[in-house]
Amino acid sequence: MTFKRTTVTSALPYANGPVHIGHLAGVYVPADIYVRYLRLKKREVLFIGGSDEHGVPVTIRARKEGISVQQVVDRYHELIRRSFEEFGISFDIYSRTTSETHHKLASDFFRKLYDEGKFVEQVTEQFYDEQTGHFLTDRNIRGECPRCHAPEAYGDQCEKCGATLSPEELINPRNAETGNPLVKRATKHWYLPLDRDQEWLEKWILQDHKEWRSNVYGQCKSWLDGGLKPRAVTRDLDWGIPVPVEGAEGKVLYVWFDAPIGYISNTKELCDRNPGLGPWEKWWKDPETRLVHFIGKDNIVFHCIVFPAMLKAHGEYILPDNVPANEFLNLEGNKISTSKNYAVWLNEYLEEMPGRQDELRYVLTANAPETKDNDFTWHDYQARCNNELVAVYGNFVNRALQLTQKYYEGRVPACGALTDFDRETIAEFTSVKERLESLLEAFKFREAQKEAMNLARIGNKYLADSEPWKVIKTDPERVKTVINISLQITANLAIAFEPFLPFSSKRLREMIAMNDFSWEQIGRMDLMSEGTQLPKPELLFTKVEDSDIEFQTNKLEETLKANAAAEWKAPEVKPVIPFEDFEKLDIRVGLVKTCEKVKKSKKLLKFTLDDGSGKDRTILSGIAGWYEPEDLVGKRVLFIANLAPRQMMGETSEGMILSAVNYDGNLSVTTTLGDVKGGSQVG
Ligand code: 2FM
Ligand code: ZN
Repeated sequence: MTFKRTTVTSALPYANGPVHIGHLAGVYVPADIYVRYLRLKKREVLFIGGSDEHGVPVTIRARKEGISVQQVVDRYHELIRRSFEEFGISFDIYSRTTSETHHKLASDFFRKLYDEGKFVEQVTEQFYDEQTGHFLTDRNIRGECPRCHAPEAYGDQCEKCGATLSPEELINPRNAETGNPLVKRATKHWYLPLDRDQEWLEKWILQDHKEWRSNVYGQCKSWLDGGLKPRAVTRDLDWGIPVPVEGAEGKVLYVWFDAPIGYISNTKELCDRNPGLGPWEKWWKDPETRLVHFIGKDNIVFHCIVFPAMLKAHGEYILPDNVPANEFLNLEGNKISTSKNYAVWLNEYLEEMPGRQDELRYVLTANAPETKDNDFTWHDYQARCNNELVAVYGNFVNRALQLTQKYYEGRVPACGALTDFDRETIAEFTSVKERLESLLEAFKFREAQKEAMNLARIGNKYLADSEPWKVIKTDPERVKTVINISLQITANLAIAFEPFLPFSSKRLREMIAMNDFSWEQIGRMDLMSEGTQLPKPELLFTKVEDSDIEFQTNKLEETLKANAAAEWKAPEVKPVIPFEDFEKLDIRVGLVKTCEKVKKSKKLLKFTLDDGSGKDRTILSGIAGWYEPEDLVGKRVLFIANLAPRQMMGETSEGMILSAVNYDGNLSVTTTLGDVKGGSQVG
């Protein structure tokens, strides 16, 4: 099937917080690379984005921040929109699901399906908070996990053990916000009877779309193998699009019903504003249009099964041709979490690493979670920036441009007779174009970017092997050809990197005075005309310093610490003991006379204490990780005086110094508040 045009959508992020690197790596950078590539190929394409402003997450955020839901979505929609813009995510439109166009389109969509009897109505018992008068959605219910007994599991998932749950399974379910206990109450909802779609979905996905990514195909297969069940498409909530049916007061469309329709509404809004794009229906109803959804793996079932079933039930729409979903990106070995503030937020990155958008785009693509979850680390970020962008791409371009300035006052020299080496280099370039294309068409962006970087490596090798700085003394004519070819390679790089690194490509095009460009030019060696005057070059990339990386890693560690402190719970009290047992312990105050590290041990400090007996007492204690020995000399510590002596690292320890174990495992030595003599008993 050949298509005339492509509608590209990227998941509409919830407007309940800023966006982070996981969003960028999983959805928006790959979608943007693809769209930029299609545009460079002069293909007809629209790139649709927007914020998902309904659903429970935004209402939870509003209650947390003590502001209205409208204020929440206004704030985050704007913040997210700006972050995407700053990262060069080149949407044709970035709108929102609270728009009028969307409310009408989603409402009409539902009503058409309702009128045609495509839903089934069902009354079920749902959890209800009698004190607030609200039905609760799964996310708003908390209780004890039936599997791991964590006390704070959600109605749909336990974050501690990862179990998928339904609210009925929770032990002592309660309202997550108010803590109120819940009762069951009957309520009517409309369901999309997905069981009736089983057959065609099986054929459409499992037989006709075997080319989908294996993670996407595999997830669909397991849903289909499990047998599809009807899904409620309405909710009892007071935020969202009202269900356009009499007797449905207080009910709204389920956020996962309205959000994907947002892709259509946003296309309509765009086309209504820009008649040149044609009627919006062309982008959604013409079988010659190819629909591609970029999403993260948690959205697969909605885009591959539920939304297609909705589109099919409606009857007028095309179905997605591909859904290149990514897996998740972790951060320094931990899960990224919006609720725990553990992320690299795009708005903060832009402030802390100004002008380094391409660096992040590059690293996120180089390390994209295309087939499995991947980890982002700041040290990898630094290494890739410095060893690849600066040392390979930037270095080549800079040398080519500096030599042009040095030898030819910035004017492109003429290309003379080619050597075999020149021809080989040029041939390599031509073949890379085809490889790049087939990788991009197959959504293999990581590999594609590697190929683009290979072009820079070829350039670097060409310059290094041609040694124009030496040859200039013996054969200046030859150098003209070498520099000409190097500049042609530079021009090729500016085009090849445009989908991946749009900011540096633009700067590079300015440095080589390149105005018009298209994908088809890649591989050509006549892109820079002889005699063209080039401006003074600037560095394309600059080194990322250790101090930048330290700042970022410290920030993440601080967050982890703050989370650990907030989540910490005092350990359970040990079984009760009779008073006589306590009396057996002889706890005393000791004055630290000397304290030193124990050779060959990282953990132990050796103390001599004045314990009031007139003789020195030696105690070894595993707190070397937390104290400098000299800081403890002269201090009072509490110790157990009647513990049987123990051999440790060739020394005898006569007792135990008491330390408190903090939430993060750090030890803190105990002492007395007043000036107490060594040997005094504690009790
Ligand atoms: O997972 C999410 O962030 C959802 N807001 C994605 C919605 S995608 C589409 F359906 F709009
Ligand atoms: Zn659990």
